Amino acid sequence: MYSEKVMDHFNNPRNMGEIENPSGVGTVGNAKCGDIMRMYLDVDEAGVIQDVKFKTFGCGAAVATSSMATELVKGKTVTEALQVTNKAVMEALDGLPPVKVHCSLLAEEAIHAALWDYAQKKGIVIEGLEEPVEDIEEKIEG
Ligand code: FES
Repeated sequence: MYSEKVMDHFNNPRNMGEIENPSGVGTVGNAKCGDIMRMYLDVDEAGVIQDVKFKTFGCGAAVATSSMATELVKGKTVTEALQVTNKAVMEALDGLPPVKVHCSLLAEEAIHAALWDYAQKKGIVIEGLEEPVEDIEEKIEG
């Protein structure tokens, strides 16, 4: 039921971990399954994502989609990273079973949340980026 690529990224996740003093960090969760994903970005002065790491407390598909999402945004500008939608992540993984589509959505939301945090810290506006719906951080730590 899972593609080889999904299994590969699940078994050997790329860019797992965290970044100290990240340019932006975002945490999102899915209330139904309870899975949580956190993305860290290291963005240089030119707005290029030099490094990205993730931590996922969730299902196998969530690990695979986070891993693929980090690969897709690395080396891109923050504006280009916005184009990395859950559809792009799914396509890069050769698809996901329908019940696992929300896992890829979590990856997209995590990227957006980290980009939002970066933009807030920098005091800039990233065209097309919307504020994350809720701050799950408060729920986790508060
Ligand atoms: Fe919810 Fe995968 S089951 S993120």
